[in-house]
Amino acid sequence: MPKAAESPVVQNAACCASPALRPLIGYLQTLTHRADLAILTHHLQSLNITRDDVEPACCFGARSYKRNVIAASPWFELLALTWRSGQCTPIHDHRGVSCAFRVVHGVGTEIRFELTPSGMICPVQTVRMQPGYVCAADDADIHQVANMQAPGEDLITLHIYSPRISKMNTYAFKVSEGCDGSNPYAPGPSEG
Ligand SMILES: [Fe+2]
Repeated sequence: MPKAAESPVVQNAACCASPALRPLIGYLQTLTHRADLAILTHHLQSLNITRDDVEPACCFGARSYKRNVIAASPWFELLALTWRSGQCTPIHDHRGVSCAFRVVHGVGTEIRFELTPSGMICPVQTVRMQPGYVCAADDADIHQVANMQAPGEDLITLHIYSPRISKMNTYAFKVSEGCDGSNPYAPGPSEG
């Protein structure tokens, strides 16, 4: 049985050649364990990148946001995520994975949630993320990221996950079943 490769298994040659991304990719390639979130954040904050640096990896999805791999090994993924207007992640957490990203192009929106004793999730913070903004998510953080800009305005974000993400816990708003007895929310004839 062949031994699992220790070197990166995926690379987008054009992006990896970008001088702006080379130091970050060089660091990620040395990882043999889960990366420290503070170090990932520092690397992303230190970048001087534009859309041109990640463009060679970027495809957009017609119906949902798209994950475009720039480089990866068993211990990290470096991705350009591309979002058309109205596209968003599921509400999710990051258990077992260090996750940080930087807004490269456009304005993103992050909604943070907390899990309440009832089991329902509650939104607690909304952040409009301008280009250059770096977001870091701890294991228990629950959030949703979206492109809430107008149609025609794209969002591109540069994400690092360490180790590679295989499965995310997802959450959803509870759907009300109405109320017992007469239902004031039932559709009826409109007035006027
Ligand atoms: Fe996330």
